[in-house]
Order: sequence, then C-alpha cells, then structure tokens
Amino acid sequence: MTEIAVLGAGRIGSLHAENLLAHDPGLDLVIHDSDAAAGQALAGRLGARFVASAAEALAVRDAVVIATPSQTHPGLIAAGVERGLTVFCEKPIATTSDQALGVAELVRDAGGRVQVGFQRRCDPAYTRLRDAVSTGEAGDLLFVRTTAFDRDPPPAEFFALSGGFAADCVVHDLDAVPWLTGRRITQVYADGAVLTEGPYAEHDDHDVLTVLLTLEGGVRAVLTASRTQPHGYDHRVEVMGTKSALSAGLTPRTPLTPVEGRAPGEARAEPYDGFVDRFAEAYAAEMAAFVALCRDEGANPCPIGETLDAMRAVEATRRSLRTGQRVELA
Ligand SMILES: NC(=O)c1ccc[n+]([C@@H]2O[C@H](COP(=O)([O-])OP(=O)(O)OC[C@H]3O[C@@H](n4cnc5c(N)ncnc54)[C@H](O)[C@@H]3O)[C@@H](O)[C@H]2O)c1
Repeated sequence: MTEIAVLGAGRIGSLHAENLLAHDPGLDLVIHDSDAAAGQALAGRLGARFVASAAEALAVRDAVVIATPSQTHPGLIAAGVERGLTVFCEKPIATTSDQALGVAELVRDAGGRVQVGFQRRCDPAYTRLRDAVSTGEAGDLLFVRTTAFDRDPPPAEFFALSGGFAADCVVHDLDAVPWLTGRRITQVYADGAVLTEGPYAEHDDHDVLTVLLTLEGGVRAVLTASRTQPHGYDHRVEVMGTKSALSAGLTPRTPLTPVEGRAPGEARAEPYDGFVDRFAEAYAAEMAAFVALCRDEGANPCPIGETLDAMRAVEATRRSLRTGQRVELA
C-alpha cells in the first residue's frame, strides 16, 4: 500500500487529500498541520491518521504532499527529499528565486523527485491548447494574453507568508506561457496598483498587476491579474497566431457579459467561484499523476527544475515594479 503524508490541511491541502483518496481509496494517508485542530478535523473527515509533528509525517514510507504556506516550502522539500520521499510541493517552491535555485540544486544533487503544483499543466483545456500550438494549429504566434482574476482575495493572514502577488498568483502564468508556447521569457515589464480595500500596502503588494513579457522570437504576452473580480473567478488564456486564435478557459461559466447580449439559446451558466471549482479536473489529474509518479508508473508533469524560469520571472517582475524599467532575462 502506498503511504503518503499531507502537510497542511488548509484550502488546497484538504483538496489534495480528498483527491488522493478519490483516486485511490486504498492509499494510506497521514495528515499533519501545525494547527492540530485543522489537521485532526481533516483526518477525521477522511478516516486518515493525524500526526502532531512534521517529523512524524515525514517518517511515512513513500511520499509527501506539501500544502503549507509558501515560505515553508524550501525547508520541507529538502526534508522530504533527504528522507527519500517522492515530493509534491504546491507552488511557489520558494518565495525568492535564490531560494528556489538552492532547493532545486539540492533536489538534483540528491537525485530526488519533486512535482510542483502548477495545475494548469494538468488542466484538460490548457493541455489541448498546448497541443494545438505545438502542432501548428495557431500558425506563427503573434500574441498571448492571460487573465488571472480571483473572485475573492485571500484571507488577511495569508499575505505575510505568500511572497506577494507575483510569487503567489502571477507565477502560474509565468510558468504556463512558456510551457504553452515552447518559448522562454527574455524580457519582463510590470506595472501594478492597489484599487481595493485590503492589507496590500502594508505588505508592499498590489491587487492588480499587468506584466508584459517578451518571449523568444519576439512574441509578446500580456498577463493581467487581479485579487478580486466580484462577479466570479476568471482564469484563462488566449493565443493568437497567423492561422487561428485559440482560447482555454473561456466557457459559459466565465464571468464576462457581452453587452451585445448572448447568441440565441446560449444560456449564461453559474460563474466559477474559485480555484477549486474552475480547476477541479486539473487538481484531480495532478494528484493522479503524483500517485503514478510515486509508483514509477507515470511521468512527472511538472519537475522542479522546469519551474526555475518562472521564479526568475517573478524576481524580474518585482524588480520591474520597483524600478519602472524593463528587465532582461538571460
Ligand atoms: N495551485 C493552486 O492553485 C493553489 C491554490 C491555493 C493555494 N496554493 C498554495 O498552497 C499553499 C497553501 O495555501 P492555502 O491557500 O491552502 O493556505 P491555507 O492558509 O488555507 O492553509 C495552510 C495550512 O498550513 C498550516 N501550516 C502552516 N505552517 C505549517 C507548518 N510549518 N507545518 C504544517 N502545517 C502548517 C496552516 O495551519 C494551514 O492550515 C501556498 O503555498 C499556496 O500558494 C496553491
């Protein structure tokens, strides 16, 4: 039987634990959260074993899912790899590029296996779009545009440990755009503002961000992100090329109202309310892939080494926000 520890029983840790058991009810699941009540509640609900310390959790036989606040990720990845476990870690793997590089080197030197939680790579629509781009369906690429609008901002206590908006949210698209297009980011220019109530200024953070990327070959990508879209959760991407313009994530549930009205018979469906709702299939596929990875039965959809460019782009985004200048990436 495969034994997996889940560290962190919050918003995403609970979901990963549920998805693991939905995928294989025979898994032996161990839950740890530094808030014992939260850990015990999740363990009780799922019929899993609660342990009171991270050390006990890391004593499991096979694998660990890290779903604790972002600042704790490098230390826990290192501990998991040193124990010989297969590791799944939520994004970002660290809150700075230097820490990310350090932990990725440690994983490489130890011969460790780490899957990172960029769930767009497991989303059926994003995967189809990537296939379409790589087979030339879009033709020569001209533009990429991403939307990352959360409906509700995270709870106030989340901000201090999140690494900021770029590391916490925009990082998804800083990973997805090169992955979708097969082109690395060569230049970053970012602009941000605070337009709503929230603890943004005290954390030197923003609630709206625009990031202009130059990709290899000169293709431009515009990333737009907002901590709140009061009408629903809207995360999607559009790719425009010489042969066609394609999108992933634009569905009747997208919280966007055409002022011309909808086509006859096209009903407006209930808008997505959050990441669990929009990316349900992706998170389930991500955990299925992780179990297969643990059992040497499948490939790693997001190896840690492939996520370093996204962290460098996060750092470049921060520098551009500070200086108002474009930042070149080597
Ligand atoms: N891939 C995605 O779409 C996605 C979505 C949400 C969150 N995340 C990431 O997942 C991580 C967790 O986010 P969340 O929204 O679930 O946060 P959360 O605050 O809801 O949950 C975090 C949990 O970890 C516990 N915790 C804190 N420090 C701990 C430690 N050292 N050891 C054990 N438990 C500890 C807390 O008590 C809490 O229950 C973050 O890195 C975030 O960026 C990713």
